[in-house]
Amino acid sequence: MDKLRIKSKVEIEKMKRSGQAAATVLKRVGEAIAPGVSTAELERISRETIAEVNSISSFLGYQLPDHEPYPATICLSINDVVIHGIPNENQVLKDGDIIGIDTAVSIDGYHGDNAYTFPVGDISPSAARLLKVTRSSLYDAIAEAKPGNRIGDISSQLQEGAESNGFSVLQNFSGHGIGRSLHEAPEVPCMGVAGRGLRLRPGMVLAIETMVNVGLPDVQILADGWTVATVDGSLSALFEHTVAILSDGPEILTGSTLWDI
Ligand code: MF3
Ligand code: CO
Repeated sequence: MDKLRIKSKVEIEKMKRSGQAAATVLKRVGEAIAPGVSTAELERISRETIAEVNSISSFLGYQLPDHEPYPATICLSINDVVIHGIPNENQVLKDGDIIGIDTAVSIDGYHGDNAYTFPVGDISPSAARLLKVTRSSLYDAIAEAKPGNRIGDISSQLQEGAESNGFSVLQNFSGHGIGRSLHEAPEVPCMGVAGRGLRLRPGMVLAIETMVNVGLPDVQILADGWTVATVDGSLSALFEHTVAILSDGPEILTGSTLWDI
């Protein structure tokens, strides 16, 4: 993880462009989600859209510590998968699945990162509740992303939003600062204590993300070395926005009509 860098107004304008490009990719992939579609097809749509909006994938070839370079432009999380599932020609979406799509792109060297968990066809009421709760906890957390508050004010909203509904949040994966690097300090965990942690300042840009499991918070890495799944097989949801902290509060850089419901 690179160090924290405060962004100028001009840099934040550039990050809005990459944020909007990432939002377009996420929306376009989301529109293709339906029973019978393979996840390799979603990867093709992502690559096409990334090129169309004149951006570069931040994920393709990305090297996380102790991992092979990531082989795709989207990370998937179907049902009990939490993060980092790899698209595959043989993996076909089924009615009732939920699928998280995480995608980040850069333009002019600045990254934008976002994720959304989509229903496939008709989903169970409990899966629908997971999506609703997780997404609204992200917005409650973003509302705390203002100067004078601390990272713990964001994290505690993510944790409380999930736990007050009987769900659990991931302990070992976090949101992050973002800019010329996909991952900059500070870490933005999905759990924490209000009033604690680094104080937020204008010009910080954070990728705020939350990973929520219906059951236990414990996860395991599958044999491909990338896919992170719940140990108890329970469903997991993921939502993420890139957010700039301005003097008068948060600005979501990855907003799109996808989120307007
Ligand atoms: N999902 C992570 C994030 O949003 C990054 C994934 S890195 C990759 O920060 F290599 F898996 F793509
Ligand atoms: Co991220």
